[in-house]
Amino acid sequence: MALNLIMLGPPGAGKGTQAARFAKERGIPKISTGDMLREAVKTGTEVGLRAKAIMDRGELVSDDVMIGIVRERIDRDDARAGFILDGFPRTVAQAKALDGLMETREPLVVIDIVVPESELVRRLNSRVVCSNCGMNAESVAPQDIELVRCRYCGGRLVQRADDNESVVLERLKVYRRDTQPLVDYYCSRATFRSVDGSQPQHRVARDLAAAIEAARNGRVGLGVKS
Ligand code: AP5
Repeated sequence: MALNLIMLGPPGAGKGTQAARFAKERGIPKISTGDMLREAVKTGTEVGLRAKAIMDRGELVSDDVMIGIVRERIDRDDARAGFILDGFPRTVAQAKALDGLMETREPLVVIDIVVPESELVRRLNSRVVCSNCGMNAESVAPQDIELVRCRYCGGRLVQRADDNESVVLERLKVYRRDTQPLVDYYCSRATFRSVDGSQPQHRVARDLAAAIEAARNGRVGLGVKS
């Protein structure tokens, strides 16, 4: 049975970290709209050129563009056996469009990763990523980024353009306004669960796997929103 999973959660909740780990374990693609947009910016496509300024301000790229990108991506063969969406949907309009795309597929499993805002700000202000492959670098202080290389590809480490303090606050504001309403949109579904993302990564991964199994079996499981 295909696993069609959505990772919900604010910026810095650990969606990308957990999605990458889980996708590798299950052999299904991680579809990160943020990564796809950053790749488009890097290669200078038309979408990338238009998205760059929006992303740098911490705002959202238009629903039409994002829905088009995701529709095309989940139609590819490698997503037939399932996928993990990281960063999509981000608005109720995107969620409704996704429901339309899912009509002939297995129901969505929706996991909301919950983390207090002070911890999100701490994580994003100190995040360091590879300029080449985009992976997060662990335990590298921003002042040390010139001294260390990416452990996956040897690329140069940088801070993401949207991880500076004022843009982080704007992203959190946009999240509260446009994305948090998705919790209400999904929470009455039998396949919705929330997970405490403030724990160490391996514990989040453990709870996430249990929540996904519980959601797929339609049982009451760990961290169901009451
Ligand atoms: P996107 O790239 O999706 O950014 P985001 O949602 O702000 O999410 P992040 O990547 O910042 O955080 P994350 O939850 O993945 O956390 P991570 O695992 O990296 O989007 C960027 C921009 O693109 C948007 O602002 C928008 O402009 C545009 N965009 C993208 N999708 C769009 C859409 N659908 N519609 C419209 N516009 C869209 O972890 C963060 C840090 O915390 C890392 O350093 C990590 O190592 C660390 N960490 C992770 N887990 C833990 C843990 N348990 N304990 C301690 N540290 C941890």
